[in-house]
Amino acid sequence: MRYLSGIQPTGRLHLGNYFGMIRPAVELQAKGEAYYFLADYHALTGAASPGQLPGLVQETFLDLLGCGVDPDKAVVFRQSAVPEVHELAWYLSTVTPMGLLERCHSYKDKVAKGISPSHGLFAYPVLMAADILLYDADRVPVGQDQKQHLEVARDIAGKFNEKYGPVFKLPESIIRDDAGVVPGVDGQKMSKSYNNTLEIFAPEKDLRKAVMGIKTDSTPVEAPKAVEGSTLWGLARLMGTEGERAEFRAKMEKGGTGYGDLKKMLADMVLKEFAALRNRREELAADPRKVARWMEEGKAKARKTAEGVLARVRAAVGTKS
Ligand code: ADP
Ligand code: TRP
Repeated sequence: MRYLSGIQPTGRLHLGNYFGMIRPAVELQAKGEAYYFLADYHALTGAASPGQLPGLVQETFLDLLGCGVDPDKAVVFRQSAVPEVHELAWYLSTVTPMGLLERCHSYKDKVAKGISPSHGLFAYPVLMAADILLYDADRVPVGQDQKQHLEVARDIAGKFNEKYGPVFKLPESIIRDDAGVVPGVDGQKMSKSYNNTLEIFAPEKDLRKAVMGIKTDSTPVEAPKAVEGSTLWGLARLMGTEGERAEFRAKMEKGGTGYGDLKKMLADMVLKEFAALRNRREELAADPRKVARWMEEGKAKARKTAEGVLARVRAAVGTKS
């Protein structure tokens, strides 16, 4: 079984990324072959200013390693280490119906927010399909919001196979319902683009401050607090031991604990949950040569797989024979 996933290097990783995608990916690297990459080409469709990308790639790579992605178990690389993905994206785009892309929520949402769309943003799911198909991936662990992009990738692979024969396996998504959508400090989906994140590796002081800033209602201290649907529980349910979670829930349900104290408890839970990861990240950040070597190794392995698949694709479409 081959697993593959990607994440855009667009800012420091947050708890939504961790519970939605990174933690499942870390678990899967022990169960089969895993390919994990930093989608730096995709990141160019976003808001980063010129010159920022190399730093973002480096920091996100360290974040992933800190979270437990292990280059000795998984092939970890940056998307642009294998530029051939664009050749495949072109072949795929020639069999992709416009309507399929026009229906994509993430594209429509951005347009609805007033972003003037580039062709890159529109074609984003085609490049994503190429990412997946270039490495013959069977399963793709992603958060809920990427589900439609996975369906598009399957449709594109199906269209290609209809025209050229059985070249691609149809990839399937793995979506962890237990994480669902992780709420941000304002109660909306946690996302870099909403400025509502809790960053996994933020300094302790900043993290505490962000947790204290979580939006709550005006229930008085003595009264029981609404649990389901609340941001505090939406985060606390993901962390700690079963006992700690039960205690947190009981304090909310019983009343007598104010939101300030609940937030302090939650901040402690977050810091404890990520303490070991933080140490690992710090150790790795102090060893840039090791990190650079891992990047090179990931690139070599990824290229080798990609070349094999691309040879098959070129033979099917009739280019460079
Ligand atoms: P962002 O919305 O912050 O830009 P990305 O789009 O880069 O995050 O997401 C990277 C991965 O993390 C994807 O697989 C995505 O589904 C997952 N993810 C992001 N935010 C959340 C969230 N709030 N809850 C669950 N999963 C999430
Ligand atoms: N679009 C994904 C996101 O924003 C990142 C991504 C790019 C990806 N290519 C991929 C995820 C291939 C899985 C497989 O989160």
